[in-house]
Amino acid sequence: LNEQLALRPAGPGDLPFILATERRPGFDVLVARSSEEEHVARLARPDARYLIARAGGLPVGFALLEGLDDRHHGVKLRRIAVSEPGQGHGVPFMRALIAWVFTETAAERLWLDVFVHNPRARHVYRKVGFREDGLLRQAYVLPDGRRVDRALMSILRSEWQRPS
Ligand SMILES: CC(C)(COP(=O)(O)OP(=O)(O)OC[C@H]1O[C@@H](n2cnc3c(N)ncnc32)[C@H](O)[C@@H]1OP(=O)(O)O)[C@@H](O)C(=O)NCCC(=O)NCCS
Repeated sequence: LNEQLALRPAGPGDLPFILATERRPGFDVLVARSSEEEHVARLARPDARYLIARAGGLPVGFALLEGLDDRHHGVKLRRIAVSEPGQGHGVPFMRALIAWVFTETAAERLWLDVFVHNPRARHVYRKVGFREDGLLRQAYVLPDGRRVDRALMSILRSEWQRPS
């Protein structure tokens, strides 16, 4: 599966897939979503990058990176989602994403935040080498009005295990 997963930059033609993926049933309490207009505006920004993961020639997920112009070389993984969770795409997707960031950009640090009530995502991030930086307490309001904690995680270039 690892060999079969490939990343490519997203373009406007990927917007239906991106919009549908972040709107999968149950995802509203796991991942933020944007309107089509917000995605279109962000696609044009030089400091942001959307990447599509493909397996067997089909898109299986997308990721959104931000902060590519950060003067402290900290890139943020703002959003990631696969259309069919639990099928084994997330781990190779994350590994390919980390490799992309540390080979295609000058990033020294790749970071993200994840809801503490998302043990699947936290497991995947730990498995691919992210470490916990701390907690943003009560820092997000879910669509149902609940306030939830966000865990900060990061991986440093020096911690990245280059694929052999
Ligand atoms: C997070 C996400 C990208 C991971 O991708 P995925 O394709 O589901 O991941 P995989 O199938 O490769 O791996 C899932 C891992 O989580 C584990 N897992 C599944 N449910 C779990 C749970 N409730 N608690 C802990 N671990 C769990 C699996 O056992 C597997 O680990 P393993 O490889 O060590 O066996 C995907 O689940 C997703 O898009 N979720 C919805 C959106 C989301 O949460 N995005 C992240 C926002 S920060």
